[in-house]
Amino acid sequence: MADTVLVTGGAGFIGSEFVRQAVENGLYPIVVDRLTYSGDLRRLSPVIGNFKFYEANTANYSEILEIFNQEKPSIVVHFAAESHVDRSIFEPHAFIDSNIKGTLNLLEASKELAVRLFINISTDEVYGELGTQGYFSEDSPLKPNSPYAVSKAAQDMLGRSYYKTFGLPVATVRPSNNYGPWQYPEKLIPLAIFKAIHLEEIPIYGNGENIREWLFVSDCIEGIFKVLESGKPGEVYNIGSGIELKNIDVVKKICRILDDLIPQKKPYESLITFVKDRPGHDFRYGLDSSKIQYELHFQAHTSFEEGLYKTVTWYLKNREWLEEKASKLRDFWTKNYKK
Ligand code: NAD
Ligand code: DAU
Repeated sequence: MADTVLVTGGAGFIGSEFVRQAVENGLYPIVVDRLTYSGDLRRLSPVIGNFKFYEANTANYSEILEIFNQEKPSIVVHFAAESHVDRSIFEPHAFIDSNIKGTLNLLEASKELAVRLFINISTDEVYGELGTQGYFSEDSPLKPNSPYAVSKAAQDMLGRSYYKTFGLPVATVRPSNNYGPWQYPEKLIPLAIFKAIHLEEIPIYGNGENIREWLFVSDCIEGIFKVLESGKPGEVYNIGSGIELKNIDVVKKICRILDDLIPQKKPYESLITFVKDRPGHDFRYGLDSSKIQYELHFQAHTSFEEGLYKTVTWYLKNREWLEEKASKLRDFWTKNYKK
């Protein structure tokens, strides 16, 4: 019998890419999403009619158990989360409810229904920060620094406990920073694109020297499919691209693409503005992704130039969506950005 794949957070940025690729691969996913401010079913418009949707809150156990009893999933891929570090600094409560309680409920329902595989989507932020040298391997200690990262570390460790204590087949994935089409413009890359095309100041925290490892979203999902196909329960898999860049350089690259596509009198770089640093701002993330490369034969293949160009041009083509989302962020930005 074919697997029934239940996807939480399938209306979000990364989860929707999973759903789109799952449909391309012939699956009929069951999507569970609360449609918070960051959820949007329009991300699934290319595959409409090829998935089933439940609007539900993972933090509500009875709602979740009812869906599990109805659908009897054999595989759960758990993306649903509050995902923005800055919001976790201002409003941490929702992170505990969705990321910790929500995960506990899904693990519990998965145990009840004897799910065959539970893929727990964690993040590289659970490891804390690096200096200029070294990489995080799957065995590195967890030292999360923001309320978001702590909630994800708790999610990650709950998954481990359900494997160890109950034998639930949980595989954990820790991806690096994703970017690509459909990302909510509270995150650096779509935010910088929005600000630039509006000729507004592009806010960079601190001195812009912080480093992230940038993974194109479709590559991330290809890696998650490798885990789904041949990942081992109880194991953790880092997924990175090896592409590490300083924030200032990411923003300059966006500016240069826009200089070519929609030139202005002054280069877009003149809009770059350094603002007060994020409290507890992690300096660098960098993953050792050799385990997934050697054991599951996965390698991210999108260069940053290709991925960023696709991303910028996607936002230019989908400007209405970008405008609609960004218009809701004005109050948050006023509160967040201080010079
Ligand atoms: P996102 O904010 O775009 O999407 C999150 C989705 O989860 C939304 O559709 C939202 O409606 C849904 N959701 C939130 N709380 C819910 C709840 N209580 N019940 C049901 N649905 C709920 O986030 P994203 O960037 O797509 O991230 C997806 C996952 O990947 C998250 O677990 C995140 O921690 C992880 N992750 C993200 C990145 C990244 O760079 N974006 C990198 C590594 C890991
Ligand atoms: O590393 C994985 C994580 O990547 C995921 O777990 C998170 O869900 C995801 O949001 C992302 O977290 P970051 O904090 O790294 O992403 P963000 O886009 O918020 O910020 C990227 C870098 O850019 C970070 O160093 C902070 C900086 N930044 C961000 C914003 C929003 C700025 O300089 N200016 C900004 O306006």
